Amino acid sequence: MSKKVYVGMSADLIHPGHLNIINEASKLGQVIIGLLTDKAIASYKRLPALKYEQRKIIIENIKGVSEVVAQEELDYVPNLRKLKPDYVVHGDDWRQGVQQQVRQRVIETLEEWGGKLHEVPYTPGISSTQLNKSIKEIGTTPEVRMERLRRLIESKPIVKVLEAHNGLTGLIVENIRVENEGGNNEFDAMWLSSLTDSTAKGKPDIEAVDVTSRLHGLNDILEVTTKPIIYDGDTGGIPEHFVFTVKTLERLGVSAIIIEDKTGLKKNSLFGTEVQQTQAEIEDFCYKITAGKRAQVTKSFMIIARIESLILGKGLDDAVTRAKAYIDAGADGIMIHSKEKDEREIMEFCNAYKKFQKRVPLVVVPTSFNHVYEDQLIEAGVNVVIYANHLLRSAYPAMVTTAKSILTHERSLETDEQCISIKEILNLIPGTK
Ligand code: SPV
Ligand code: MG
Repeated sequence: MSKKVYVGMSADLIHPGHLNIINEASKLGQVIIGLLTDKAIASYKRLPALKYEQRKIIIENIKGVSEVVAQEELDYVPNLRKLKPDYVVHGDDWRQGVQQQVRQRVIETLEEWGGKLHEVPYTPGISSTQLNKSIKEIGTTPEVRMERLRRLIESKPIVKVLEAHNGLTGLIVENIRVENEGGNNEFDAMWLSSLTDSTAKGKPDIEAVDVTSRLHGLNDILEVTTKPIIYDGDTGGIPEHFVFTVKTLERLGVSAIIIEDKTGLKKNSLFGTEVQQTQAEIEDFCYKITAGKRAQVTKSFMIIARIESLILGKGLDDAVTRAKAYIDAGADGIMIHSKEKDEREIMEFCNAYKKFQKRVPLVVVPTSFNHVYEDQLIEAGVNVVIYANHLLRSAYPAMVTTAKSILTHERSLETDEQCISIKEILNLIPGTK
């Protein structure tokens, strides 16, 4: 009887290195590909460009592959115990980096039934990382970008979103990453905050910067990034105007708009009850959500309803009632906001939300309760965390210090320490030279 050979793969950007491994594996017996699901891949690196079903069709049709099964996590052990293969075949590059421990567990598990790990020398000159970089340079399409937010929500324990208010901050969200134990850690998406967008223009956050102006900034970001975008739609305006905003954002490839249930002159939520603000009637806000949902063309675009009950001191019950009504009206997500330093009221809402029969993704913005870790939010059932204003808030004090330093010293030498060097800024944006 032919031997069973198991090959775990992401198979996102198929290159000759993959074909070499499959070819080597097929010399040992019948090849079963353990195709990593989007969730498994997202647990240690960037979400793949192609969806699981698309990758499956490709890999099933490669010569030498007998069967494709889903590998639901990075860890091979569950599939190995089920299939008990005679061999696992893998490129020898996993001896280093984040997969070292995964490899060790494969070796130990195979020993349980006398299976063996067969490693194929890494094919030089080809790297998925390099291919990924090239793909990023080509860019994305509105459809691919838009759909990516839903895919991320389905694949990641929490989707991490950071504010961007121009091309440069968009590039920061796009490119900055840190390596930690679990692999690469990077932001998943961008938040087009009304607060930072207005502040960067020197205007108050009261819907004074109209949609047309905000689209200029949005367009600058779209031009230089590929990650999904969540647009802060303030109140969404009157329903008759909101439908146009939905269509425009959708056409541009924005993934979601968040609208808050306030009416009249909107002020920033973090003022809480310090300023006069009026919450919308449930019925009116539901009507706006439904009108928006009817206006959109694709299935991917999301309208997320933001509840201001806690901000306006209306209490948990009101927030819960509204969440249910907004979901019934068609909201694709719920954002619950609070300006308290203490996370208690947010957590109370999350607990109540867990019991909902009909649930949609839950979004929070921990600006005031910012001691809370992402792990705690995951535990509470939060799907998306938005860091709503931090790039602008950190840039401003640095700029003020620089301005003061020049005035104080009547020259700019003293600012050198806190400035990026001329050489660095000239090399910061590719193509400047
Ligand atoms: C924004 O970033 O503009 C928001 C979040 O709407 S908050 O400022 O907390 O209201
Ligand atoms: Mg806002």
